[in-house]
Amino acid sequence: MPSTKLKIAIQKSGRLYDDSLKLLKDCGIDFKDGINKLKTEADNFPMEVFFLRDDDIPQYVEDAVADIGIVGENVIYEKNKKVTVMEKLGFGKCRLSVAVGRNERYDGPAYLSNKRIATTYPVLVSGFLQKKNIIAEIHEISGSVEIAPGIGLADAIADLVSSGSTLFMNGLKEVETILHSEAVLIRHPNLDAGRHEILEKLLFRIRSVHKARHTKYILLNAPNANLKEIISLLPGMKSPTVLPLAEPGWSSVHSVVNENEFWDIIEKLKSAGAQGILVVPIEKMIL
Ligand code: PRP
Ligand code: ZN
Repeated sequence: MPSTKLKIAIQKSGRLYDDSLKLLKDCGIDFKDGINKLKTEADNFPMEVFFLRDDDIPQYVEDAVADIGIVGENVIYEKNKKVTVMEKLGFGKCRLSVAVGRNERYDGPAYLSNKRIATTYPVLVSGFLQKKNIIAEIHEISGSVEIAPGIGLADAIADLVSSGSTLFMNGLKEVETILHSEAVLIRHPNLDAGRHEILEKLLFRIRSVHKARHTKYILLNAPNANLKEIISLLPGMKSPTVLPLAEPGWSSVHSVVNENEFWDIIEKLKSAGAQGILVVPIEKMIL
């Protein structure tokens, strides 16, 4: 009997592709990339990888064609499928925005009254219009939304914006944000015990990788007289490691710091007399 494998669906090309693959590889899962491939198998983890259109992934997971998937929240909200969101993944950050021609005079949502809006997100856009009490015509199209105003198909668009370069290149400007989104891990609502166990292993690895990405390892030299103050600035995982330096009166202090507090802490450490501060990336962090 073949052993259980967890089937994961990821985007076959587009904004989420590279980071989805990188996440799995950082989790120590090796497989061949899916260029021109529908699926591949991991060499060292009980997993099959399916490469699909991101918009289709919620449906495949609802139908248990795939057990889990990586998609943007935007697709989850739009498609409204029976899937469980497990974890935010910290990449693929973007927003669903309304954009109009760069030279249009946009003076608020009332501008959109009775206009034609092209989008691949009709559900989210109509929710937005309803909330703003605007009646407009939604043109659902399946791709290249950004060219719709230029060819006279629509007066405005609602599409994902990440760097903004797609809008810029098409002479459009962003005027309203409908929602913010990032990549998430989703699963079928009822996984059997075998699949559940593999998913738990994967989640443990994802969390270790994620935590490590936002944390730095810091090493510094501190005058013993100020050790107490410096240690209080560096809580670390348990407490910092303190080792004596060859030079009397000095110690080497090792700890971890969160990316968000990082610059703030460095300033304080320097004023407390810390020297030779080294900051190094962490690959995995097991808590
Ligand atoms: C989205 C969107 C734009 C682009 C915006 O496409 O449809 O084409 O990203 O990014 P930018 O602001 O950085 O230029 P996505 O990668 O989701 O592919 P898809 O539309 O084929 O699903
Ligand atoms: Zn898409």
